[in-house]
Amino acid sequence: MSEQTGGRPAGVPSSGRVSAGAQWPAHVAIIMDGNGRWAQQRGLPRSKGHEAGFQRARDIIRACGEWGIPYLTLYAFSTENWRRPAGEVSFLMGLLQRAIREELQELLENNVRLRILGRLQDLPAALARGLKEAEQATAGNTGLHLNMAINYGGRAEIVDAARAIAAEVREGRLSPEEIDETCLARHLYTAGQPDPELIIRPSGEMRLSNFLLWQAAYAEFYVTDVLWPDFTREHLLQALEQFTHRQRRFGGI
Ligand code: IPE
Ligand code: IPE
Ligand code: MG
Repeated sequence: MSEQTGGRPAGVPSSGRVSAGAQWPAHVAIIMDGNGRWAQQRGLPRSKGHEAGFQRARDIIRACGEWGIPYLTLYAFSTENWRRPAGEVSFLMGLLQRAIREELQELLENNVRLRILGRLQDLPAALARGLKEAEQATAGNTGLHLNMAINYGGRAEIVDAARAIAAEVREGRLSPEEIDETCLARHLYTAGQPDPELIIRPSGEMRLSNFLLWQAAYAEFYVTDVLWPDFTREHLLQALEQFTHRQRRFGGI
């Protein structure tokens, strides 16, 4: 796994809110939650909340690129979200399809590398194709690594890794003794990436909801009551600032 750490490069607002010399996380992961409640509070259909949430995602991706955050993961649709009413699921699939069509150019212009975390094969075929193509089109970029978690489940990811490892053992390319934490991490969707150091959950829920179960082992957790459609780069700065004050011990003293 990469030893890359986050910096605080030139271009970050010198507002004084960020401690001098403090390290920012190399990998920030966000559970984009609260779209429905945001819409409900305004007497709007939930779909309006998802649209507003999509705009926030655009801003946050752009901010992370500008600030030199190396890795950003956004949780957009979980393996459990299929339990929602069919109309909401199909609206979300349509929104993702539109997003990838409309935003690909922006990702290319901003030098963003896209990776999809999740079971693409179970998504509508046109969406899966669009996401694959966008991954390929941005593969040569050198800026922000953006992971979009779509049809993502932490348990599903570990199951997929276990299957891939089992297949390699069966084919004689790997022995059971060689299976260790590094090997398992290499078979996750996030292979080659640093673990998230900061996981942000807007809208106040204090749970992971099946997000990055393996990778979250030592992530710092930041929960805010702000709903995702209200979550601006200022809120992100607050989370980053708080991260710099956390004492991380990793089991030591
Ligand atoms: C997050 O917002 C978006 C997805 C899970 C797709 P929600 O739709 O979960 O919003 P709340 O939690 O109902 O407010
Ligand atoms: C988590 O939010 C999934 C995403 C944000 C994509 P949920 O709204 O699905 O989580 P629960 O159901 O409240 O745990
Ligand atoms: Mg929710």
